[in-house]
Amino acid sequence: MREVAEYFIENRDLTKEEFRELIGCAEDPETVRELANEAVRIRKQYYGDGVYTRGLIEFTNYCRNDCYYCGIRRGNLRARRYRLTKEEILECCAGGYELGFRTFVLQGGEDRWFTDERTADIIRAIRSGYPDCAITLSMGERSYECYRMWKEAGADRYLLRHETADEAHYGMLHPSEMSLAVRKMCLYDLKLLGYQVGAGFMVGSPGQTADCMAEDLVFLKELQPHMVGIGPFIPHHDTAFAKEPAGSVELTLFLLSVIRILLPKVLLPATTALGTLDQKGREKGLAAGANVLMPNLSPLKNRKQYELYDNKICTGEEAAEGLKSLKKRVEQAGFRLVTGRGDAV
Ligand code: 5AD
Repeated sequence: MREVAEYFIENRDLTKEEFRELIGCAEDPETVRELANEAVRIRKQYYGDGVYTRGLIEFTNYCRNDCYYCGIRRGNLRARRYRLTKEEILECCAGGYELGFRTFVLQGGEDRWFTDERTADIIRAIRSGYPDCAITLSMGERSYECYRMWKEAGADRYLLRHETADEAHYGMLHPSEMSLAVRKMCLYDLKLLGYQVGAGFMVGSPGQTADCMAEDLVFLKELQPHMVGIGPFIPHHDTAFAKEPAGSVELTLFLLSVIRILLPKVLLPATTALGTLDQKGREKGLAAGANVLMPNLSPLKNRKQYELYDNKICTGEEAAEGLKSLKKRVEQAGFRLVTGRGDAV
């Protein structure tokens, strides 16, 4: 094993330059193995063999942003847009509850039809209907006041990937009206308000270098999020990045291990994007240190429309079917699905 990896396992922290060197070890099989072993050991220590599940409700694919990598960006006129009604969202929750989900993730594009107040009303309805469930929001950038209103309405957690912590790289992925500074401010606002916060980034997005990823790790260490979502970049045919190569599954797995060691108690999903590039991607994610899965609870009729990238999996099966086969696969991989809110330890 490379020296920098040994040092990392011992100290669970590195400088940016050392992180860059560590990322260079992703090509070294022995180092990859040792880091995965350490990540699994740490995950076991805090979470045993339990894997948490979250019911994902993709409730709108309208978006005011024009992120170059994303299939539901504003500028994609070919995307067929939809938004669920409050009643449909509550039906998704009811179906999910029946299946055993105790966390609902409301994820959508930045859709201003869902005003601060309208959204708060939906959160209150879920909160009063499901007092034993956690409510996670993933709705992008809003004001401090808005985040506060939603927290008071009953939201517990917020997912907002920073996408890349490198200024110049952020500028390559987003139009100039978006900024890394605002994204970071939102994350700190959310923390201040007492949300469990999730950040994260894509692996292998166009223009990403080892230096960018080292910056991502430095930022994660500083932010100390409760959750980190990472998955490989996958091109979408109606974006400027249609012809770009997808990110690497191996590098994603390596980074999952690194993040588990860096933030031992973190909630770390094996993402749909990972499962899309590799049939066994999510199982491999668990074996690299991940401990969360996020099956889809969205209505079947809309699933294909929430197309962030090409060939996204789990757009055809029913939630119940999906969960059954997922449970089996998780158990075959040596873990067990846990019902319950699944808060960070
Ligand atoms: N490939 C992989 N992940 C993507 N996301 C958006 N577009 C893509 C893509 N083409 C991710 C972003 C976003 C999350 C909801 O999905 O990181 O934060």
